[in-house]
Formats: sequence, C-alpha cells, structure tokens
Amino acid sequence: MSPFVKWVGGKRQLLPELVKHMPKDGYNKYYEPFIGGGALLLRLAPKNAVINDLNMELVNAWQSIRDNLDELSALLLTHEKQDTKLHYLKLRSADRDGRITKMSYVERGARFIYMNKAGFNGLWRENKDGQNNVPYGSHKTLKLVTESLKSVSEYLNRSNIIISNKDYREAISDAKRGDFVYFDPPYIPVNVTSSFTNYTKDRFGLVQQEQLRDTALNLTKYGVKVMISNADVPLIKDLYADPVFKIHHVKASRSINSDASKRGKIGEVIITTY
Ligand SMILES: C[S@@+](CC[C@H](N)C(=O)[O-])C[C@H]1O[C@@H](n2cnc3c(N)ncnc32)[C@H](O)[C@@H]1O
Repeated sequence: MSPFVKWVGGKRQLLPELVKHMPKDGYNKYYEPFIGGGALLLRLAPKNAVINDLNMELVNAWQSIRDNLDELSALLLTHEKQDTKLHYLKLRSADRDGRITKMSYVERGARFIYMNKAGFNGLWRENKDGQNNVPYGSHKTLKLVTESLKSVSEYLNRSNIIISNKDYREAISDAKRGDFVYFDPPYIPVNVTSSFTNYTKDRFGLVQQEQLRDTALNLTKYGVKVMISNADVPLIKDLYADPVFKIHHVKASRSINSDASKRGKIGEVIITTY
C-alpha cells in the first residue's frame, strides 16, 4: 500500500532503510505518533497499531478513509470535476470564514485530500492562526479516488487501528514492554532559512526535539523499542549522546523542496534503542 497524500518529510524513499532497522525479534503493538502520510505503517501493515498526528485535517482524512470511504469518494469525485484555481481558493478559505466548523469530518477529509493534490507541491502550510496558505499548484487532471485509497481503507478496517489527533506524548502514553514506537518528527532544519518545520501552528523547535529525546529515553526504560528518524545534522550527536541510542547515517532522496536546486539526496539518521 502507498500513501494517499504527498507529505513533506514523506518516508517513501527511506523505506528500505527503515525496514532494515526495525527490531529483528518483532514487537507487539505498533505506534506511529507523527503519522503524516504513513509510508512505514502502510508498508508494514501491522494488525494492532496506534496512529496519530497533530494536524487535525490530516486525521480527518485518515478517519474518513477508514469509516466512510463511499461518502469520501463521492466528495472527492466532485472536487476532481470542479478543480480550478477558483474552486481551490474558495475551499481553502473555509478555515478563514468559519465554514469549516460546519463541515462534517468527511467533508473536511475530502477538502484535505483535494487540497493536498491540487495545492503547490503537496505542501500543507498554515499561518499563525491555523489557516492554510498554500497557493494553487500546477498539475495534470486529478485522480483522487484511487486503488491505493481503497486498499488503505480495507487495511484500516480489517486491522485494529486507533487513530488520534493529540500531541505525540499523549498518543504513546499507554505503550508497554515489547511494543514498538516509530517517531518521525518534524526534522531539525538543515539551515536557518528552512521553514519545513511549520506543519502546524505549533512550531517544533529545539525544546521540542529535546522533549522527544527524553520521551524516547523514558519509553526505553519501560522496555518499549524505539526508532526515530531525523536530519543528519551535527546537533544529533549531542542530542542522542546517551549510549542507549544507536545512530545510523543513511541517504534519502527528497522530491518535495520548494527550491529545485535543493532537491536530491540528503543525509538522514535512523536512531534505534535496540
Ligand atoms: C516528518 S512528518 C511525518 C511524515 C510521515 N512519516 C510520512 O511518511 O509521511 C511530521 C508530522 O508530525 C506532525 N506533528 C508536528 N508536531 C506534532 C506533535 N507535537 N504531535 C504529533 N504530531 C505532530 C506534523 O503534522 C507532521 O504530519
């Protein structure tokens, strides 16, 4: 199965490395509290999982795919047919004029999937008031109702998957010995001008990176297996200096970067505690 959204930091290219670094002796429940497009979840298809993201519209999309695929597909078809810059901007402004609060979660999920595919470069960027400000992007005729959407829906329905919209620390709070947590947080910026950490209105800065490290240490104490991905920047060595962490340096190709000259292979790290 492959992701139904293009997502900044999407893990498709890194998948072979991530799979290689999974615990060799298996695990019980799978936790992915920064789910985004969920590339690793969809590759592994665990039977018991908790997935979570702070982006409420993304979570609306995951939930609609699981619980209301028919209605979602019908709405996606209407967006496909109506797709123009004007249609996009009208739908985008639903979070400015309050219309969004009157929409059902399925309507919001459809809005999210459509805007992700019709907007510039698959970005989802919000201003400080939580309003989407991604411009309309150039694209071919959209195809939003795909086989991949159906297979994701079937997988979510035949498995036991909890979907939540909380801070990552709350989402993993019931993880137990033998469970596995994969953290794919907003990455540490490679340079100060990078704005790719602005996924949601709450910025993921250095303090949050330290809190994540401490959360990982705490889980390890309770026998939970932890894997973390991040950018390969010098700070990683200091952040993850505790000997419990093993730092693996890997390369991934990234296609989502607004600056074409910065597309290509970038260094990433996969950090494991087992
Ligand atoms: C690097 S992306 C994940 C990419 C994903 N693994 C994929 O393959 O597409 C990071 C995600 O973390 C979410 N996020 C940011 N801060 C968060 C927080 N405090 N708790 C939970 N999720 C958060 C963002 O909305 C974003 O979807």
